[in-house]
Amino acid sequence: MATVEDRSGVFRIDTEAPDATDRAISIKEGGAPLSQTGLDPWPEDRELGSADLLVDLTASDRTHTRICKALRQGCGVVLANKIPISGDAEYFRLIQDAAQAGNASLRASATVGAGLPVMDALVQGARADVCPDRITASMSGTLTYLLEGLRAGKALDDHLAEAVSKGIAEPDPTVDIAGRDVLRKATILARLSGLSDRVLERESFAASGATRAAGEAIQREQSIAERTGQAYLYLAELTAEGIRVGFRRVKADSDHARVSGEQNVFVIEPGPGVAPVSISGPGAGITPTARAVLRDVFTIAAGDPGHLPLV
Ligand SMILES: NC(=O)c1ccc[n+]([C@@H]2O[C@H](COP(=O)([O-])OP(=O)(O)OC[C@H]3O[C@@H](n4cnc5c(N)ncnc54)[C@H](OP(=O)(O)O)[C@@H]3O)[C@@H](O)[C@H]2O)c1
Repeated sequence: MATVEDRSGVFRIDTEAPDATDRAISIKEGGAPLSQTGLDPWPEDRELGSADLLVDLTASDRTHTRICKALRQGCGVVLANKIPISGDAEYFRLIQDAAQAGNASLRASATVGAGLPVMDALVQGARADVCPDRITASMSGTLTYLLEGLRAGKALDDHLAEAVSKGIAEPDPTVDIAGRDVLRKATILARLSGLSDRVLERESFAASGATRAAGEAIQREQSIAERTGQAYLYLAELTAEGIRVGFRRVKADSDHARVSGEQNVFVIEPGPGVAPVSISGPGAGITPTARAVLRDVFTIAAGDPGHLPLV
């Protein structure tokens, strides 16, 4: 048995019934609220009951309390929602404390790199007290998509509308454009890999909004970079000092410059004398994200300790 929830309420699904789940999916795909599915309302409203797993697929900033409650009662948590673990450090500590108290796992592969093996690699390193010197990452499928479109001469506002309609951009694309989505991902990576989550710099992708003029300003920077054998990219840099997010010029033959479409690239510099490790692949989009969520569900069911650092 499972419950599903959207803004219209909480509903019970008998997962054994032949078409109950498919019906709920097709109603949501059609854009209607779950209250129109004919599913039974869940009588305890937003109570967890004796659930084994809570999956947060919202982009809501109101799920933190429920996540803490779930973890405290020993319920595993899977997140695609970055907000609960990328906000205020105190809120993150409350989640850690709850997981510790309930001996419960939280996994969040979909929040960064949509399931590329970067999070598991860094968490395992942190558990062994091995922290990289530096991580540089191109981890916004949306911004890479926009930069590519701009290079091809497209207008920023039109191209952003296309990214939203394809499900590449965040539900609220201003979060991408302000650089806040990249900063959230960088904060999660820093917290899980043992690097500092202090924000040293957040440069907006388009400070005055996704206008044609903002796009043209980026196109001018792209042309200047290209004339000098460089690429103009939007990157996150994580070190022991903190996080920097913004535009950078990098060599045109670097790993970051080879990123395309919805790909993400993470370059992890382990330390002196050890060559950097590059992890790249599809880092956004509905299918990779859904796969990452499902893998986390099965991994927790198999007894994995999760992604949170030990308290
Ligand atoms: N799409 C990607 O490539 C990708 C990649 C990595 C991570 N993510 C993350 O995945 C999450 C979902 O993205 P999405 O594109 O699927 O968003 P979406 O299309 O807006 O779907 C969000 C769902 O959450 C529900 N919801 C929102 N607030 C709620 C609340 N307070 N209580 C109950 N339900 C609530 C919405 O219900 P209604 O239908 O009633 O509005 C909707 O069904 C986001 O956090 C995003 O950052 C997405």
